[in-house]
Amino acid sequence: MLILCLSDGLFHSGEDLGGSLGVSRAAVWKYIKNLVASGIQIDSVRGRGYRIAGGLDLLDLGRIRQFISEDSLALLGTMHLFKTIDSTNAWLLERIDLGLAQSGDICLAEQQSAGRGRRGRAWVSPFGRNLYCSIVWKFDKGMNALEGLSLAVAVAIIEALADLLIPDLSLKWPNDIQGRGKKVAGILLEARGDLTDRCDLVIGIGLNFFMPTDAAKEINQAWIDLEQLTQQKLERNHVSAVVIDHVLQALVEFDQQGFGAFLERWNRWDAYRGQAVSIIAGKDVQSGKAYGVNEQGAFLLETDLGIKTFHGGEVSLRRVHEVVA
Ligand code: BTN
Repeated sequence: MLILCLSDGLFHSGEDLGGSLGVSRAAVWKYIKNLVASGIQIDSVRGRGYRIAGGLDLLDLGRIRQFISEDSLALLGTMHLFKTIDSTNAWLLERIDLGLAQSGDICLAEQQSAGRGRRGRAWVSPFGRNLYCSIVWKFDKGMNALEGLSLAVAVAIIEALADLLIPDLSLKWPNDIQGRGKKVAGILLEARGDLTDRCDLVIGIGLNFFMPTDAAKEINQAWIDLEQLTQQKLERNHVSAVVIDHVLQALVEFDQQGFGAFLERWNRWDAYRGQAVSIIAGKDVQSGKAYGVNEQGAFLLETDLGIKTFHGGEVSLRRVHEVVA
């Protein structure tokens, strides 16, 4: 594949590329145009050919498997890897609808053309730079437990990143993973089936490794990537495997022990604990002091009238100003 040839970051002439792929130079030019149209930055220099500056560290399922623990390999279903897809979540939801998905199935993509975020937002998903990963999980604890599960997955991801020595991490309720107070990863849970009882969940994870400047222009919230946090190029296959490993283990732990096993861990990473915050639900704004989360994963706000409980989906959280003593 053309993209594989160019992933080394070196210049390749149109003739060499055509030779390796068994196509004409005109066909190479057409492929290149398609790649550029899909958002991949390719330098084209007369007399030298084409290159992707800095190269690409492409995902490789074999390599990802190598870094996954024995325990998690036992939970893993089929892994699917796409160069481009609309949304890894949407793809797995379709598989569920067709009766083709099993617990532990994973869908990864180098690029999403319609990546989905929470609250109907888009998730900016440029080619070959970040992690876009969805996992199927058969869930039998009913809808009330889903909130806790989404927080448990956030704990799993932040612990995976901390194991990889990524600094300056914190959590923002309900399930944003932050670096230096800006979003580095997000989680989107989508479900099929009877939400009062058994259902099939798709757990979507987006993690910024290296966000190209052009793509970043489309993001409308404060963001950061692992490269800025570490000043290093991390191996995407390794980091992806460690994240998948932690999430699979957390899903089992959640099945067995519920959110109770994650409550203290979540509170430990809480970016807002003890701070003056507002909870916003449409036009309704309530202010107080962040008091962590409860056994369901609901947010606790300490107000003059006592502790109030808020559930995700309905509301969003903002910092008011400086830390309250
Ligand atoms: C958020 O808004 O915080 C959630 C972002 C979730 C993005 C991931 S990327 C992989 C999976 N596929 C999607 O379309 N969305 C999720």
